[in-house]
Amino acid sequence: MKKSFLSGIFIFFACVFFMNANSNQRIENSDGTITFTTIDEDKNAVEFKKNYDGFENVTIIYGEKVTKRNPLNIDLSDFGNRTLIMDFSCDIKILDKSGAEKNRITWMINDFANNFPVLCDADVKTGEWTTIKGSLTVPLTEKRTLYVSGGEFDMKNLTFYLKNFNLHLSGEGFGDDKPQQSWLEAESLKNAYKGIFDYFGLAVTENEFTNSSTRKGIVRHADCITMGNEFKPDFVFNWQKPTSFVDFVAEDGKTYKMPKNLPVFDKVDKLLKLCRDNNLTMRGHVLVWHSQTPKMFFTQNYKTGKKAVLVDKAEMTAREEWYIKTMLEHVSEWEQKNNDGKHIITVWDVVNEAVADNASSSQYLRQDSDWFRIFGDDTFIVNAFRFANKYAPKDVLLCYNDYGTNRGQSPKVSGVLKVVESIQASPDARIDVIGMQSHIGIDNPIKGYGSFEESIKLFLETGCDVQITELDVANGKQAYSPIILQSVYKDLYRLFIEYRKLPQKNGISGVTIWGLNDETTWLNSQKEHRGYKQFPLIFEGTGELKCKKAFYGVLEAGKEFSK
Ligand code: GLA
Repeated sequence: MKKSFLSGIFIFFACVFFMNANSNQRIENSDGTITFTTIDEDKNAVEFKKNYDGFENVTIIYGEKVTKRNPLNIDLSDFGNRTLIMDFSCDIKILDKSGAEKNRITWMINDFANNFPVLCDADVKTGEWTTIKGSLTVPLTEKRTLYVSGGEFDMKNLTFYLKNFNLHLSGEGFGDDKPQQSWLEAESLKNAYKGIFDYFGLAVTENEFTNSSTRKGIVRHADCITMGNEFKPDFVFNWQKPTSFVDFVAEDGKTYKMPKNLPVFDKVDKLLKLCRDNNLTMRGHVLVWHSQTPKMFFTQNYKTGKKAVLVDKAEMTAREEWYIKTMLEHVSEWEQKNNDGKHIITVWDVVNEAVADNASSSQYLRQDSDWFRIFGDDTFIVNAFRFANKYAPKDVLLCYNDYGTNRGQSPKVSGVLKVVESIQASPDARIDVIGMQSHIGIDNPIKGYGSFEESIKLFLETGCDVQITELDVANGKQAYSPIILQSVYKDLYRLFIEYRKLPQKNGISGVTIWGLNDETTWLNSQKEHRGYKQFPLIFEGTGELKCKKAFYGVLEAGKEFSK
């Protein structure tokens, strides 16, 4: 009786001792995710929390005492049969008695069914601290272990030193028992991205923006908005016809008749004011586009109906100049009068979607467009950038914006590059930004051949900055997985951060997500998605929106960079 009582006490103290030795090895974070701060295996071979090389809290692993074939383990058996998002970084130093210059460190999972997924893989030079990093989204089949492959070295010769070890596990089942956070309580995205991009952008509808409670959420997370519709020609012409005319002397010296009663600026002014009052800037979207532009803008005497005939190039060039001038000067004057000349609209989509989907070197322009029907070549594009350069303040950026530009080596990307080349070849034109709309599918490759990264690189070679202007991620015909979407958003924002604009260098200066919540995304009204519901955004719900897992993917990418 007494003996078993004593051995009970002994076991108790042994446990306390062990827990102390390695007590913060596994941390349960407030959002339900888990962080491992060191490895947890091979207790006889490991010393935790040692002072070494002037650092505290170093984990030391003596290879000669390691009994298993593979060292540096983390037991993942609590997380089997679900999809894990693993984000890892660690500083490692290795001493090697054999005199080898370097050792290959491959942290992988012993999951045969999944082909031994690799979390990170790096050469570590003997005697030097090396930071190694990796991320992996992996459907873990059963109880598994993360370990360093011991196949490549002789453990007996090695001593491993680890510091700043951080393995973050999120994904399926983490925090699912916690109530979803409201977007009004969640950490602010615009704060997380301060100093990384010029702005954090969200596209909004007029209803969303004018609704004061929705606006609170918008303003909490974004410092730049794009109006989904209200700055498009259809909307500024307000579906009205010219009722009276005014003479306009175009750059060819000739006089043309322009509508006197149009555009209608009431709504534009109201939205500019709301931006000013809420400390927001705006991407001006859009001046020249084949879509959402009234037919009468392209026709003789502004007629509509079957008998309407397209105007000639000279007249259309004059109308283009007049429209761009009127719009840009109106906004500048408004900013002068109401915002001490400080810009609300800091960048304009001057031309939208002028490149053909199947662009070839001989014909790279979209042909189902009245702009193309009238001009037959890219002069309307180059002219748009000439006029915008003439009438916009010099510090307002000018952007060419298009969709389907997210795979390098694609005809669309080549077509956009040709457009940019033409604009840059014209001495009076200016282009500052290539806008990648980025309505992408969940399978769009992010890195590697034919990837998003490749097209960003190609666009940056032009010397222009890049903005991601209309990001949403469609699940297409695949079942929607909140975790996969989270990891895709995280990887996308990591990519954007990698190519961010740095002083004296062009890069990605801003990213805008196209819409607030899945319930109102434009994608569900698209024919191609009929029968397959899309969940492409980072918030969901109605009224006070809730943060999806994808929200945390975006947030974490910003925070891990700023750490
Ligand atoms: C294009 C346009 C946007 C918008 C979306 C669909 O990408 O540039 O203005 O119309 O389609 O919502």
